[in-house]
Amino acid sequence: MHSTPSYKTGAQHKSVPTSPMTWLQERKQFVRALLSNPAAIGAVAPSGAALAAAITASIQPKAGKVLELGCGTGVFTREMLRKGVAPSSLVLVEQDSEMSSSLRTQFPEAAVLQVSAQDLSRHSHPELNGIGAAICGLPLRNMSGALHHKLLTAVFEAMHPGGSMHFFTYGVRCPISSSVLDDCGLLARRERFVPLNLPPASVYRLHRRA
Ligand SMILES: C[S@@+](CC[C@H](N)C(=O)[O-])C[C@H]1O[C@@H](n2cnc3c(N)ncnc32)[C@H](O)[C@@H]1O
Repeated sequence: MHSTPSYKTGAQHKSVPTSPMTWLQERKQFVRALLSNPAAIGAVAPSGAALAAAITASIQPKAGKVLELGCGTGVFTREMLRKGVAPSSLVLVEQDSEMSSSLRTQFPEAAVLQVSAQDLSRHSHPELNGIGAAICGLPLRNMSGALHHKLLTAVFEAMHPGGSMHFFTYGVRCPISSSVLDDCGLLARRERFVPLNLPPASVYRLHRRA
């Protein structure tokens, strides 16, 4: 269960006025979304604390704007706030309307874009400019190579030169094909395995080739 959260801002602990969901509200919201669009959710439950810690491990609180794709109920978002990322530096992308509206309530200082991630572009979404890092909770295994290509092109066009995107998969191999990685000039590296998640997951880092 969530109680009133105490988040870090920079090096300091600071209470941030948010409207946290209870454990039960979060599960109910997730199940409603799963029943209405199973392929878009692609998971049986929100990610657990160990996966949230692993996928956000490299996010530096002062690294500038952080883009999060496929936020769902906000598990990774809350972890970033706990790590000291400023809520106003978050750009949250979620296509489900109920989840987006709940993200706006939970994180009123963040920019919440209710849009399909593959339709993002710097031109129509200026919030993307100056992204320093990205976290991806999208069900990448359920998306085509063409969608991966569109998505990665938009994200890395907006990202700082040294920025990287972290994503997870339940599969045994990288869900993005080597031809898409080559076309986009990116490298993928498996960084962590998280056995204590339902189901167990691997975290990957994507970055530009030197
Ligand atoms: C597996 S859930 C992950 C949610 C959360 N990050 C977590 O780990 O618990 C995938 C989320 O991505 C969203 N999603 C799926 N396809 C999307 C797309 N093309 N654009 C934006 N959001 C999408 C779904 O609505 C869902 O909330």
